[in-house]
Amino acid sequence: MAFSNQREFEDDNNISRLGVLSERSEGFKQWVFGQLESRQCHHILEAACGTGGDSLLLLKKGYNVVSSDGSQAMVNYAKNAREEQQIETWDILQANWLTLKDDLHVYGGFDAVLCLSSSMVCLIDSTPNFDLYRRSFENFKSMLKPGGVLLIDHRNMDVIMDHGRPINKNVYFKYNTISKMASEVCKCPGKPDVTNITYDMIQESGKSDNCGSRKGLIEKVTIPLQPIRATKFASILAEVFGEDCEHALYADFKPIKEVDSPAYYQYVFQKTK
Ligand SMILES: C[S@@+](CC[C@H](N)C(=O)[O-])C[C@H]1O[C@@H](n2cnc3c(N)ncnc32)[C@H](O)[C@@H]1O
Repeated sequence: MAFSNQREFEDDNNISRLGVLSERSEGFKQWVFGQLESRQCHHILEAACGTGGDSLLLLKKGYNVVSSDGSQAMVNYAKNAREEQQIETWDILQANWLTLKDDLHVYGGFDAVLCLSSSMVCLIDSTPNFDLYRRSFENFKSMLKPGGVLLIDHRNMDVIMDHGRPINKNVYFKYNTISKMASEVCKCPGKPDVTNITYDMIQESGKSDNCGSRKGLIEKVTIPLQPIRATKFASILAEVFGEDCEHALYADFKPIKEVDSPAYYQYVFQKTK
């Protein structure tokens, strides 16, 4: 089923402009692999695989990976990568979080489900009480074996809602590909607020300076995101996974208390054994 929030991800140009093909930071890799290794996870569903870069990282480390994304353009990119790398054991499917159980009905019992890179806030929820987020989280949980974990994250939207500007900190990538960011809240009568974030993307051809920042041509890319507070996001997860479930919160891949102004939050929620 196609949902309107995915149209940005059907544009091939946006895929390269957004830098989703870029190399990951050490912080990202250490956190993801650390979470998976400490729980002996092996069988992984990446539910917002995009171009398949993170799935490839996992596959090369020996994980068993199924990758899905709601966007056919993204799925096609990932399938090309599979062909190039000749990985026959890699299943890649188009699947929407809202219909994940049906779209991936032959799969289940995963040790971990990953929904990373602040993908979740790409879902604009028009319901008054975040029913679409709840349904997505329930679907992620349904894909896990008892004791399996959901690794999920999102950009710090609180700071945008409170101060009108996003935090531009490169946390996820080896090189910084965003020179500037701006946000504006769009209010349409009768519709939920949407936060438009405009990234000044430095083109791939730009050279890196000594600090790992790229210099080069700038292209502006605007993506609509859901304004959702971190406490709300965590409370829906707790509601779905159970208030007593084992869980942990991180900021910019560090324990939450260690970071003053995080650019992103990460959550680990375990399905009860
Ligand atoms: C910010 S991109 C991240 C992609 C990938 N994880 C990466 O880092 O390259 C967000 C991804 O979420 C996908 N997406 C957005 N809404 C979705 C939905 N409702 N169901 C499934 N995928 C969705 C988009 O198609 C896109 O590939």
